[in-house]
Amino acid sequence: MIMSTKNLLILATGGTIAGMAGSATRAEYAPGQIGIEQFLSGARALELNARFTGEQVANIGSEDMGPDVWAQLHARSIAALESDEFDGVIITHGTDTAEETAFLLDMTLPTNKPVALVGAMRPADAVGYDGLRNFANAVRVACDPAAAGRGVLVVMSDRVHAARDVRKSRTRGTEAFCGFPRESVGLVTPSALEWFGAAWRVDEDARFGFAADLPDVPILLIHAGMTPDYVARLVTDQTRGLVVAGAGEGNMPKAVRAELVALAAKGIPIVRASRLDEGLVDREPEDDDNRFVAARALTPQKARILLQLLIASEVSDPASIQLEFDRR
Ligand code: DGL
Repeated sequence: MIMSTKNLLILATGGTIAGMAGSATRAEYAPGQIGIEQFLSGARALELNARFTGEQVANIGSEDMGPDVWAQLHARSIAALESDEFDGVIITHGTDTAEETAFLLDMTLPTNKPVALVGAMRPADAVGYDGLRNFANAVRVACDPAAAGRGVLVVMSDRVHAARDVRKSRTRGTEAFCGFPRESVGLVTPSALEWFGAAWRVDEDARFGFAADLPDVPILLIHAGMTPDYVARLVTDQTRGLVVAGAGEGNMPKAVRAELVALAAKGIPIVRASRLDEGLVDREPEDDDNRFVAARALTPQKARILLQLLIASEVSDPASIQLEFDRR
């Protein structure tokens, strides 16, 4: 079967995929150095079956990613998804917070066309640069109409991950991403793509609108020996909700819990997540009395984004928040 040539919008934000070390073997490097046109000239040399329109949205390390760049990515992606000009969108991104950008967009974009995030673990001038391989795979994904209806996808090391599941799990090596509870939703090479199962969000509208002024929702990382005053150190007059990165299945010391129960009683939503990589936090009977929400399989950093979007949409009662955490 001959696939027609697709038109893809490539939104560049920086990261290691655009990084330079100045030597093929040096460990230190700077992310966000090469521009989108330079990157795309390398990609065009691969003779992939797609036409690219590149836009430089930012050129930063993704530890500096946040609402301002998200607002631009969101606006440009929506425009592309609504226009006849583009068949899909690829975002190049640093790996450190790729999961947060992917999840934020996953919750705020319609699912009518493919949207893929891609990065690299080695800078562009390093021996064994993985950026072009990952990009070629992302092109394969974004050109497949069957990629639509799966939300935003993260393409790394020959795997396709769903935004809700994906997490960076290693600081070194090219196999740096994993997924939970679904490890991945597909396998990909530049010339082959295999999906595990059917699309699960076909023709869904955006679940939330996006505005850059997201409410203040801190994350409380629980550790042994934590005293209840940690809560007061984190919570200010601006705080609208709080996520607990709990021990084990969202657990916390009794005295900390009492502080959070008092906050929840004042109408500040509290979500219990887990500090574990494979942390599944289900509701426990006391959650009803405590007015707590269980994060299910969302990491604390994604639970924070979902809670921000819910509060920004004026959803603040625990039962309605829980329904949104229960969705896939
Ligand atoms: N600081 C990192 C970032 O932009 C570089 C790491 C990477 O892209 O792999 O996320």
